[in-house]
Amino acid sequence: MKHVILTGASKGIGKALSENLKGENIVLHLIARSDMNALKEKIKNNINKVITYSFDLSRSKNIPGLIDKIFKQIKNPRFIALINNAATIKPIGPIGKISSREIKNQISLDLIAPAILSNEFIKKVKNIDATKRIINISSGASKDPYYGWGGYCASKAGIDILSKVIAIEQNKQYGNKGVEILSLAPGIVNTKMQEEIRKQPKENFIHVGKYIEYFKSDILRDPNDVAMKIIELLFLDFFPDGERMDINEL
Ligand SMILES: NC(=O)c1ccc[n+]([C@@H]2O[C@H](COP(=O)([O-])OP(=O)(O)OC[C@H]3O[C@@H](n4cnc5c(N)ncnc54)[C@H](OP(=O)(O)O)[C@@H]3O)[C@@H](O)[C@H]2O)c1
Repeated sequence: MKHVILTGASKGIGKALSENLKGENIVLHLIARSDMNALKEKIKNNINKVITYSFDLSRSKNIPGLIDKIFKQIKNPRFIALINNAATIKPIGPIGKISSREIKNQISLDLIAPAILSNEFIKKVKNIDATKRIINISSGASKDPYYGWGGYCASKAGIDILSKVIAIEQNKQYGNKGVEILSLAPGIVNTKMQEEIRKQPKENFIHVGKYIEYFKSDILRDPNDVAMKIIELLFLDFFPDGERMDINEL
């Protein structure tokens, strides 16, 4: 079987991934806080099996237990992947004017959760003879500073460099038998996250007008198109291990 563990599966890019991952040998492990019963019902005939896990990934200390639970469902996989997709753009606002509790929760979800999930995933797959891959969903915000996006930019920059570190570690330890990993910036995508951005007052996010314009001029990517590209990448014979990629390169 081909097992795919996907965070943030209930909305946006994650939901589109869940709906577009198809094949009788695919088992999906979907993680989000909200109820995914309707999604499960909708996609169950596309794949071999779908298992949902209702979980708040900002609660870092419980993540190893979640991974234990997921791996109890995985026997002799031929392919196993983790897609760290869940993230939040909030709080938006300049450092010094936002809530410390909120920025802590944001970095817990956007950076600490992918780090712990990757760590636990790598421990679990160490002795499994299969294709093993991690895709970390990054952002253009990992490379450029955006006014009001301190926690988000820091987390995405962290994800990029963490992916590169894991790639060299796995190569050094296991050659081509280790976990392959990359980070991918998906472009500007028509999801709830973009709605949040457009709702911001200018004093929190000075570029809000530009994002409203992007929406009006209909240049946002369709989450299904983005999902199809990520799926193509996920199953490539020659995975671009250790790369930080942008969707435009696919
Ligand atoms: N949209 C864009 O333009 C854009 C641009 C660049 C990068 N990205 C990246 O693409 C990825 C997906 O973004 P999106 O636009 O699809 O976002 P979205 O529509 O806001 O969806 C976010 C997903 O994350 C889940 N999530 C949020 N908080 C969570 C928590 N505490 N625990 C578990 N799950 C949680 C949400 O589910 P629940 O609410 O049910 O928990 C939801 O399924 C993110 O990594 C984002 O940074 C997006």
